[in-house]
Amino acid sequence: MTALPKSAPLPLIIDCDPGIDDAVMLMIALMSPKLDVQAITAVAGNVPLRLTSRNARMICERMGRPDVPVHAGCPRPMLRKPVTAEDFHGMSGIEGIEIFEPKAPLAPGHGVSELIARLSAARPASQTVILSGPMTNLAAALVMAPEIANSIGHLVVMAGGDRISGNVTPFAEFNVFADPHAAAIVFDANIRTTVLSLDVTHTVRAEAPRLDSLGKLPGTDARMMADLLAAGNKLEARWKNGQMAPMHDPSTVVYLIAPEIFQTRPCRVSVVTRPGDQFGRTKVKDTRSGPHSWVTAADADAFFAVIETLLKARA
Ligand code: RIB
Ligand code: CA
Repeated sequence: MTALPKSAPLPLIIDCDPGIDDAVMLMIALMSPKLDVQAITAVAGNVPLRLTSRNARMICERMGRPDVPVHAGCPRPMLRKPVTAEDFHGMSGIEGIEIFEPKAPLAPGHGVSELIARLSAARPASQTVILSGPMTNLAAALVMAPEIANSIGHLVVMAGGDRISGNVTPFAEFNVFADPHAAAIVFDANIRTTVLSLDVTHTVRAEAPRLDSLGKLPGTDARMMADLLAAGNKLEARWKNGQMAPMHDPSTVVYLIAPEIFQTRPCRVSVVTRPGDQFGRTKVKDTRSGPHSWVTAADADAFFAVIETLLKARA
């Protein structure tokens, strides 16, 4: 396998459920010269699929990247009754920015078929994939074509919690709770996976000094990101005792851009799928060498410095 030259951007597929924090994640990914977003697949999650797939196209257009194909994937979880999170993202799913109908239509082809097509055509271990919503699309793709796991060299997911065990129930984080069976299929596929869980995202929040600093930057992208983060903070504060919004999904792309600002430990993650109060819980077993990597800490100042550097370069 010919290694990418150092300067070559990392080809990336992003599966997401925009969602305010997914939108900020997409902005960062589309701004970074280190990343080359090849395709986006949308999944039902924070809001219904009709909105998550529209919101992803909206962000691509606002970032001047209507060329990035956005495919609609699964409209509901594998087995459980669908759950959504409008309380934290607004009815549009992208509170904080004006809604418009994107010029670029949805790309043809179901998101699951697109994942299978792209991964089946790829060289072994050559692909980097981010999941920042319920894992339904990749799980369905793995059931239909298990061999695609061999093409994923690095899977980066925002999912779960251990020390901070839940944000939607005392034991479950939303992305896993919204489709625990899909998460179990993905974690059981033995793919090299870096897990950005609540353990780390709860330590990196859009606190006022950081948001003020970001909001003072010139340019429309900085304005848009500040508006999204402010809207997310307002909704988070309403439901979570005045706390500011964790940088959940942005942590996946910042990890790929600057892994050195994070700490990790090797592990194997499993998911509780039996009904009961622990439904959707992630269990983390330490191992010598993976296949999973649990992110335990981040340098929050460095995290926001990465984002500000990208925004300044766009001004
Ligand atoms: O628990 C946080 C996760 O759930 C984030 O991905 C957020 O967008 C919601 O989907
Ligand atoms: Ca999300």
